[in-house]
Amino acid sequence: MDERLVIRGGKPLMGSLVASGSKNASLYAIAAALLTADPVTLRNAPAIADVGEMLDLLTALGATVDGTEDEIQIQVPEITTHRAPDKHVAATRASFLVMGPLLARDGEASCAPPGGDVIGVRPLDVHLDGFRALGADVSRDGAAWMAKSPKLTGARIFFDYPSVLGTVNLIFAAALADGETTLVNAAAEPEVQMICEMLISMGAQIGGHGSNTITIEGVERLHGTDFTIIPDRIETGTFLLAGAATGGDVTVEHSAPLHLDSLLTKLREAGVDLSTTEDSIRVCCTDPEGLRAIQLQAVPYPGYATDLHAPMAAMLTQVHGVSIIHERVFENRLLYVGELRSMGAHITVGGQSVMIEGPTPLFGTNVRALDVRAGAATFIAGLAADGETSIRDIIHIDRGYAHLVERLQSLGADVERT
Ligand code: EPU
Repeated sequence: MDERLVIRGGKPLMGSLVASGSKNASLYAIAAALLTADPVTLRNAPAIADVGEMLDLLTALGATVDGTEDEIQIQVPEITTHRAPDKHVAATRASFLVMGPLLARDGEASCAPPGGDVIGVRPLDVHLDGFRALGADVSRDGAAWMAKSPKLTGARIFFDYPSVLGTVNLIFAAALADGETTLVNAAAEPEVQMICEMLISMGAQIGGHGSNTITIEGVERLHGTDFTIIPDRIETGTFLLAGAATGGDVTVEHSAPLHLDSLLTKLREAGVDLSTTEDSIRVCCTDPEGLRAIQLQAVPYPGYATDLHAPMAAMLTQVHGVSIIHERVFENRLLYVGELRSMGAHITVGGQSVMIEGPTPLFGTNVRALDVRAGAATFIAGLAADGETSIRDIIHIDRGYAHLVERLQSLGADVERT
């Protein structure tokens, strides 16, 4: 069905809303339930398509799943197949995270190269080399990757690049291995930290998470847990940027300001009036004349998040001067540029950098959501634009933003799905 998001823009967003649970952290937590035969309860997962896809994948591997996003119960008494069905793997990149748990728990795992946003080559070498280092035999089974090992053995593993999913997959595998594993140059993202906390609550022995060196002492078995997902820092950032782009006054409650140092620093540098409490962030931009250009680069955490590159670019169309964003994580994160240009933005691309000249009045037109964050850039631009913006392919936006229309409406936006 060709559903569209139709926005009649030009109105400042005003009010407050509550952050959803983290999309990506929920996907990792669902995969973690494969590591135990005991029940796992997850609270605060967002109502988005990717969570449903990941739960379907677990069901196909033998899980029983119950409850709603607020409280999901998962139990995998027995793994019924070691091969992740292709139809479930195509939907989300995180599906490859079943490899580590299946290998660790049952000594065998197979999964096709996963789907997800087309934002770069997205290799899997960090995952596969890591499984090999833990003693697994990794080979191709047609298009799928297969890993086998009767018992994994801990090892010291250096990552060429601090891949987020690679780090999580190897933590899963090492959690039930014999002996100690050290991951060097591992990812430090809050979602990785959270998954370590969740595994610790299941009996795992993990240290150093949050830094780039993580140690995991394998244990015989993990038990169930009742665990609450952290707030989604990318969703929070998107709403703050939408508030700033529209000259609004927006507060995101139940958020995690400490996970957003890089964004908050850059917003302050741009002249945005910000205030925070322990768990809320308010952006007040009712005098947009004072906003000025900034430069930033998207890099691994705690640097500026690549997932907030496109939403920030949309906001920077409304500030004075020439802003520069340099993308250093994914080589195809610039799909949003053409869409914003068609709305009147002055953006030029040189290699992996974009130059955004502002402020430019944006005008509504027909655009597409080409990936989840490019989609966020189009709806932020649509909210700031004069006239009607119609966004196609909103299936991508639905992957990352729960109840978007209702929540934007609660901030005073004129927006609907048609
Ligand atoms: N990379 C390698 N080898 C690997 C894996 C990755 O070289 O084996 C490179 C990639 O080519 C890329 C860089 O590492 O240049 C970053 O990739 P990473 O593996 O860290 O990304 P990911 O784990 O596939 C997750 C999130 C992304 C988020 C990135 C970076 C999920 C499902 N995806 O992807 O989220 O952008 O980390 O923070 O958790 C999104 O939510 O919109 C999204 C795309």
